[in-house]
Amino acid sequence: MSKYAKDQPVGFKNAIEKVAIVGAGGTIGSHIANALLKTGKHTVTAISRKDSGNKLPEGIIVAHVNYDDEATIVAALKGQQFLIITMAPTAPRDTHSKIVQAAAKAGVPYIMPNAYGPDIDNVKLGQDTLLGPVAKANRDEIERLGMQWITVCCGFWYDYSLAGGEARFGFDFDKRSLTIYDDGNTKISTSTLAQVGRAVAKVLSLKELPQDENDNSLTLSTFLNKGVYIKSFVVSQNDMFESVKRVTGTTDAEWTLTHEDTKKRYEDGMAQVKVGNMAGFGKLLYARSFYPDESSDLSEKVHNDLLGLPDENLDQATKAGVELVKELQLRVERMAS
Ligand SMILES: NC(=O)c1ccc[n+]([C@@H]2O[C@H](COP(=O)([O-])OP(=O)(O)OC[C@H]3O[C@@H](n4cnc5c(N)ncnc54)[C@H](OP(=O)(O)O)[C@@H]3O)[C@@H](O)[C@H]2O)c1
Repeated sequence: MSKYAKDQPVGFKNAIEKVAIVGAGGTIGSHIANALLKTGKHTVTAISRKDSGNKLPEGIIVAHVNYDDEATIVAALKGQQFLIITMAPTAPRDTHSKIVQAAAKAGVPYIMPNAYGPDIDNVKLGQDTLLGPVAKANRDEIERLGMQWITVCCGFWYDYSLAGGEARFGFDFDKRSLTIYDDGNTKISTSTLAQVGRAVAKVLSLKELPQDENDNSLTLSTFLNKGVYIKSFVVSQNDMFESVKRVTGTTDAEWTLTHEDTKKRYEDGMAQVKVGNMAGFGKLLYARSFYPDESSDLSEKVHNDLLGLPDENLDQATKAGVELVKELQLRVERMAS
């Protein structure tokens, strides 16, 4: 396909209107789907398992699929211009590939693969956290099959990670305890679930292609085979703790603090994962991301201004995190890994 709208066949509409999303009822997918629906510019189709118990956003079209029957996935994806995959990390490993292969057969040109994590160019962080090679393989497969990808680099989800138990940002709200990694001052970049949703909706609301060689405006094609980098806050655990105390109206005296060395915690988590205990995964992932000399901070690369994303208030995001605690506790299997 030529890179300019002026060269496209008659009838070409320079916009992404038909979007399919896997996981529209999930943690991040629900935020993305709702943000897309809110623009009024997209027809959004949820690709969902027939027996799914997930509640889907209002106004979404539902296409039921069986991941063991490729024809159902191809049929659901026919005519879609953009496929967003937000698939549970606990789903079978080959499901992502099944979706991507079906998308190629259905003629979908662009895919946002599962990732929604750290900077994809930080290869060492990706290798150390075990996530990098998986995400790279997903992107490579998309290219190999003749499609293009846009991936979201957002760092940890702030509200989710705050709420998601001790293995994540170290907070256990039921016990009012906090595990502080090293001295608690290492800053990482994070994004709220809402900010990720907004960012994806902004990118998919851009013109697909520049009109011609003189058109320098931002288009969806600017991001093809690249990351969209975003952030909400660059914060340390100590910053989070101050915010948590403000939001919950608690004081230092009401919290039990423990300190742990990130390198030791990373190694402990890795040892657990090596013997098949996935409880170690969250531990190694978050501990590694808080290494004082190599933390997960992509803030220098963010596209927030380019995309017109709003500045957010840390305490409001902390409040959203605290409100998410009970909901995440119901997801026992997920929170254990
Ligand atoms: N940056 C961060 O802090 C962070 C945190 C967590 C996750 N992530 C990443 O974000 C992505 C999405 O995670 P998420 O938490 O949004 O996912 P999720 O809510 O756990 O699941 C998303 C969807 O996956 C589908 N699904 C669930 N189990 C499945 C199975 N066994 N087979 C096939 N489909 C299944 C479900 O869709 P249907 O029921 O509609 O079929 C579900 O709504 C992952 O790549 C993950 O690594 C990032």
